[in-house]
Amino acid sequence: MATSDMATAEAAAPRGELDDLQKIVALCKRRGFVFPSAEIYGGFSNTYDWGPLGVLLKNNVRDAWIRAHVQRRDDVDLLDAAIITSPSVWKASGHVDNFVDPLVECLGECRQRFRADHLENLEKCPTCGGKLSEPRNFNGMFQTQVGPVEDAGSVAYLRPETAQGQFVNFLNVATSMRRKLPFGIAQVGRSFRNEITPGNFVFRTREFEQMEIEFFVQPGTDDEWFEHWVDAREGWYLSLGLRTHNLRRFEVPDDERAFYSKRTIDLQYHFPFGKGWEELEGIANRTGYDLGQHEQASGERLRLFDDETKEHVLPYVVEPAAGLSRAALVFMVDAYEEQLLDAAKKDVRTVLHLHPALAPYKAAIFPLSKKPELLEVSRKIYADLRTEWMVVHDVASGIGKAYRRQDEIGTPYCITVDFQTLEDQAVTVRDRDTMQQVRMAIADLRSYFAGVLQF
Ligand code: GAP
Repeated sequence: MATSDMATAEAAAPRGELDDLQKIVALCKRRGFVFPSAEIYGGFSNTYDWGPLGVLLKNNVRDAWIRAHVQRRDDVDLLDAAIITSPSVWKASGHVDNFVDPLVECLGECRQRFRADHLENLEKCPTCGGKLSEPRNFNGMFQTQVGPVEDAGSVAYLRPETAQGQFVNFLNVATSMRRKLPFGIAQVGRSFRNEITPGNFVFRTREFEQMEIEFFVQPGTDDEWFEHWVDAREGWYLSLGLRTHNLRRFEVPDDERAFYSKRTIDLQYHFPFGKGWEELEGIANRTGYDLGQHEQASGERLRLFDDETKEHVLPYVVEPAAGLSRAALVFMVDAYEEQLLDAAKKDVRTVLHLHPALAPYKAAIFPLSKKPELLEVSRKIYADLRTEWMVVHDVASGIGKAYRRQDEIGTPYCITVDFQTLEDQAVTVRDRDTMQQVRMAIADLRSYFAGVLQF
């Protein structure tokens, strides 16, 4: 089936929505995407480990982000900064003083802790109805000690955002890469926040991954660049198959914006929990706040010479800040479908309609039976395709079961070697979404996949 026909078939049959996050949680465990951390010890609250397929998915999300915003632009460079960071960075950035959430504790039976700004009623505990304590500020940064002696001088922090790495390396990157304004620095990596109320699986955890770009511009052009990045980031999610009706822009009101931001638009996703719409990514205009703060605290001039105005300029910063683990969750949630194939037989197939660029495996290769002559051919195809793509070889007990297993993990193509293959050197290629099968010469597989797996 031609790619355009498949797109039409997709459009004609809109998919249903995931109605319960627990279905994804179960699938993730069953199929090796995400496991509860330290499970053999009863787990560790709200902490998860990414399994074999989860790592592949997350890497594909990261690669798609780098492809779109670094490889296919000529104004963004990559960085990988330290996680355990000098306290000077966080004092200057304002995080030591301002990265705080108001915490209330239940004084009744359950003793649970909540973020006061997440509660509608500050009088009563939402769990047990008990009285709540007065709100007190709680700093969200994880503190650690560097070196063998524990004293005030050995305090360091695990970064709560990757962004400060870009700010403190602004001149290093600009100088080494011979950059003029506007240009950006992109970073993907772990961040840590001592969240009071983590939850909803990997949506909010204490350890997570971010993908952040700090884009440095001439003051005065920042509003325009802000619009540019909101469009670019929204377009990125849609280009990877996220459905338009599940994504919206939310103008963050003055009293809810982070302390450094002049304007923030959140890209929100309609999740199957809570109020539905929740933040997926924030795009903020951080103005000259961060570089200004670091300039003042470090005594280094963090300015670039502007050829037009002949002045040294302290740039403004537009920041598209995405969560990598949160985005991976969203792509799974959005792709999930339970498709009723036969009502009488109650035959339902679970399928992840992941964009092929994100799918952990691009294709699965099966022999129709375990006969050595079929296995020999399927293994040969596998050995050939794996030099180019992440593919899997599965010797299943039944072809139907094998298809279902691949549907559930989002593998876009299945290749079956059958007895006819021994006669005609051709195989069956099945499309995950349409379930259409076409017969294709083994010799044509590489060029076919080179076409459909071009991102
Ligand atoms: N540098 C700006 C910044 O960090 P943020 O809105 O606090 O902004 C950016 O974080 C993104 O990081 C969020 O939109 C979300 O996707 C992700 N994120 C933040 N906290 C998270 C957490 N506790 N667990 C998972 N993802 C998180």
